[in-house]
Amino acid sequence: DASDIEKGTYAHFMLKEIDEQPLVVRNIISKYRNEAGEVELSEDIRNAILESDRIYIIAAGTSYHAGLVGKQLIENFAKIPVEVHVASEFSYNMPLLTEKPFFIYISQSGETADSRAVLVQTNEMGYKSLTVTNVPGSTLSREADYTLLLHAGPEIAVASTKAYTAQLAVLAILAADIAKAKGHSVGLDLTKELGIIANTMEVLCGQKEEMEKIAQEYLATTRNCFFIGRGVDFYVGLEGALKLKEISYIQAEGFAGGELKHGTIALIENGTPVIALATQAHVNLGIRGNMKEVVARGANPCTISMKGLEMEGDRFVIPAVHEMLSPLASVIPLQLISYYAALHRECDVDKPRNLAKSVTVE
Ligand code: G6P
Repeated sequence: DASDIEKGTYAHFMLKEIDEQPLVVRNIISKYRNEAGEVELSEDIRNAILESDRIYIIAAGTSYHAGLVGKQLIENFAKIPVEVHVASEFSYNMPLLTEKPFFIYISQSGETADSRAVLVQTNEMGYKSLTVTNVPGSTLSREADYTLLLHAGPEIAVASTKAYTAQLAVLAILAADIAKAKGHSVGLDLTKELGIIANTMEVLCGQKEEMEKIAQEYLATTRNCFFIGRGVDFYVGLEGALKLKEISYIQAEGFAGGELKHGTIALIENGTPVIALATQAHVNLGIRGNMKEVVARGANPCTISMKGLEMEGDRFVIPAVHEMLSPLASVIPLQLISYYAALHRECDVDKPRNLAKSVTVE
């Protein structure tokens, strides 16, 4: 029961939940492992997905951001086209569906009304669905055909952290399982790579002082902050910006590196913090170029890169992990930076103004 969960020695649930992420990933590995020691899906879920010609991911907030990364994983590994939609839009602005759609609802709580409204519609239309949720027996879990659990333990802080990385881990397992069933090589041993991710998360959670310094240096007094990235780094940037908005009330936005010049760069002033993620080799030069553009306009640059892609002047380097799984690692510095920014600005970290943990009205 959530009310029994305590903070222990932690000042806030959010920090405790950030620190729980290595454990959650290890827990997911053990829950999804088969007798051969490899992570996999149950046969009924696998078969249902194999029958579909397109996956529609429906979610809100942080879960929507996990869906964006999930799309990359599923399309890359399993070669099934994926569309990701914000639940509140989908219910009245439904795209043309393919002949055999399969719906994946991502929801930490399993209670988000916007997502449920879509599930009610797709159930009426007779389409198969899967809910990826942290809460067994939740509404979305009960009303969908299948459920994949996050096994993350109750998440109490309003700002979602461990549920996001758990969602990514479960979606990676789904993607790799379907790929294997279809005979596509994914080019990685996912069980092993997730183990590496858990270890890397632990290293990153041990670098809180560094994150606190970054928060102080860049975010102590600023009124805005931009996150940029290309590829999945863009999606993680969106989540980084959402975290910062939610708990520190700094106006933060995530942008695709290449899109900056088409408008947003007009907002860059002397000292505007721009946080860039650089974890993808094929876009490393591109994002570096974008950083040069903002620096030339006075931005205060904070590049977070991955080992092997680092360049002089990077503010923080995360250990090397498999590129496809980098969001599971790169989001952690962003979560911690947001946490410390909120702390410095004396905001209510666990219960930010105007927000609810689970939004059960449309
Ligand atoms: C609320 C929370 C967010 C969360 C969103 C979706 O707005 O404040 O943190 O991401 O709902 O919640 P869900 O439970 O469906 O993942």
